[in-house]
Order: sequence, then C-alpha cells, then structure tokens
Amino acid sequence: MQEQLDKLEKQALAELDLVSDPAELQNWKVKHLGRSAEVGKVLEGLRALPAEDRPAIGRRANEVKSRLEQAHARKNDTLRSQELEGSLTEEKLDVTLPGLSPARGRIHPSTQTMRQIIHIWAEMGFQVYRSREVETDEYNFGLLNFPPHHPARDMQDSFYTTDPEVLLRTHTSPGQIRVMRARAPEPIRVVLPGMCYRHEQITARSEIQFNQIEGLAVGYNITMADLKGTLIAFARRFFGQDVRTRFRGSYFPFTEPSAELDIECFVCGGEGCPVCKRTGWLEILGSGMVHPTVLENGGYDPSVYSGFAFGMGPERITMLKHGIEDIRYFWANDLRFLEQF
Ligand code: DAH
Repeated sequence: MQEQLDKLEKQALAELDLVSDPAELQNWKVKHLGRSAEVGKVLEGLRALPAEDRPAIGRRANEVKSRLEQAHARKNDTLRSQELEGSLTEEKLDVTLPGLSPARGRIHPSTQTMRQIIHIWAEMGFQVYRSREVETDEYNFGLLNFPPHHPARDMQDSFYTTDPEVLLRTHTSPGQIRVMRARAPEPIRVVLPGMCYRHEQITARSEIQFNQIEGLAVGYNITMADLKGTLIAFARRFFGQDVRTRFRGSYFPFTEPSAELDIECFVCGGEGCPVCKRTGWLEILGSGMVHPTVLENGGYDPSVYSGFAFGMGPERITMLKHGIEDIRYFWANDLRFLEQF
C-alpha cells in the first residue's frame, strides 16, 4: 500500500511537470484530486485494511493528497503569471506615441465675421431681426421705391420662382419693410443678417449667393449726423480705433440722401495699391436716410418720423480683412481655405 502511494505521488507530480496551460491543469486536477482520483480510493478503502495498518496508510494518503494540492496551487500561480507576462509583452502599448487627432470643425469665416459685426451692433443697442429669404417682388423692390423698370427687377438678374411675383431676396433691405410693419409706430433699432441671391455671372468678385447685414433705425429726430456718427463708431470698433473713414455721396432708391462709407486702405495705408484699385480707400457699406416713401410704406408718418439704414456684405469685409482675392472660396467647401480661419 505504501509503495502504491509513493508511486502514485511520483507519477502525478511527473505529469504535473508536463502541464503547460490552464486546460491541461484542469484535466490533471480532475484526474488526481477529483472524485475518482486514486488517493481518494485509497482513503475510502481504509476500512477494509487491518486495524494496525490503518493509521500509517491513512496519514500517508492524506500527506500525498495535500502535497498534490500544494503542487497544483503552485502550478496554477506559475501559469497565471506566465500568462500575464505574455500579454504584457505581446500587447505592448506605447502611451507616449502621439495620438491620431480627429479633424476639428470650425466656424465658417463668413459666420465669424457676421457674429463679430452683430456683436458690435448689439453693444450699440441694435436687436437682431430675422427676415425671410423668399420674398415677393413687392417687398424686394416695389415697397423699397425701385421704379417699375429698374434693371435689378429683370428676370436675368434675380432668381424668380415659377410665380413671377415671388423671388429669392436680392438684398436684406425688404426686411426693413417687414420689421417696420411689425413694429409701427414703435421706434426701431435692428440689424437684419442673412443670405441673399442674385442671378449673376459667378466671378472672383461676385457670387450668386452671399450674406448681407442690413441696419435700420427709425424714430424721432434721427438725422444724417446720427447716421454718420453711428457708422464711424462701428468702423472704429470693427477695424480699430484709429481707422480713417470717408463718407461719400451715393445713390440708392430707398434712401435719400444716400452715402457709402469707405475706410482707408489698410494694405497700402492710403498710398494706392491693387487692393484699393489705387484710390487709397475701400468701400465697406451703403447707407442713407430712409426715403419718406419707404417710411410710409412701412407704416410710419414721414412728417413725424425719420430714420437711417445701411447694408454691408460680410464676405466682402472678410475678403478685405484677410486679403482673400476670390469670393468663390467662401462656398467651395475647400478645407484648405476653411482651415485657415
Ligand atoms: N441693399 C443694398 C444692396 O444690396 C445695400 C444698401 C445700401 C442697404 C444702402 C441699405 C442702404 O440699407 O441704406 O446693394
């Protein structure tokens, strides 16, 4: 019996030496420590032995059993740490390598300029008023005092729908009538930003779609001096405190008198260069005193109220500011352009 136990122990330990993965270890355990393992059988069979042999055999069998258990536990530890070791070397991760940064979106340059401009007008007390992009001929032209045969009304110059009375607005000015009709007889100070459309040849200087920011102030005793002072205050906030400006007479059907605001060319400092077409000045907006007929069309009595209006193009201003030479970049969706802003 003793010999049998010795042999059994040796045999089991020898087999354990050959075990090299957790599955094999499990099989080994079932075989040598499980229900039907040899040591178990020896212990079960103790009763059948002569009484004087029992203690010695029993002790030895228990000893074998616990040795095998200990050997199993050691092997288990060894296998686990080998496994960990393996995954540490195989699945090595260099946390110091630079990551792949996702392409980050950003605000479109036109939107950036629009927000900046609107922010300045808001600081000066102007609310934002959103007006529609699809307009009637009446609002886009008629109520703004465009004569019936003005060239802008030509189908060639505007995008009309199948209804000859309905078109995409060619400027933000029809919003002037909309806001006046909504607010009369209250005083008004608003800016109207948004997209405009013109059926034109696309060139480096003109696109079929572009943004405008319109401004309108209506109230009592608003004068040309208010218009000029307000526009210069805007130019200083946008282009810098010491920007030089020039207020120059112009013509628009919906304002009388009308004027354009120029700023000194910042490329050449007024010397004359290709950007300012050698004039030393850059035009940044159109403006004027709201025409009495337009005030009346908006529901304001021109003998009581007066007002001023202005309109500027954020794309044009962005081009001037950043020296962009082609307006087509704005809607071409070329990341090489957009990523620069
Ligand atoms: N609507 C004009 C245009 O598209 C711009 C403009 C000029 C707007 C003078 C105004 C203004 O409000 O007073 O060219």
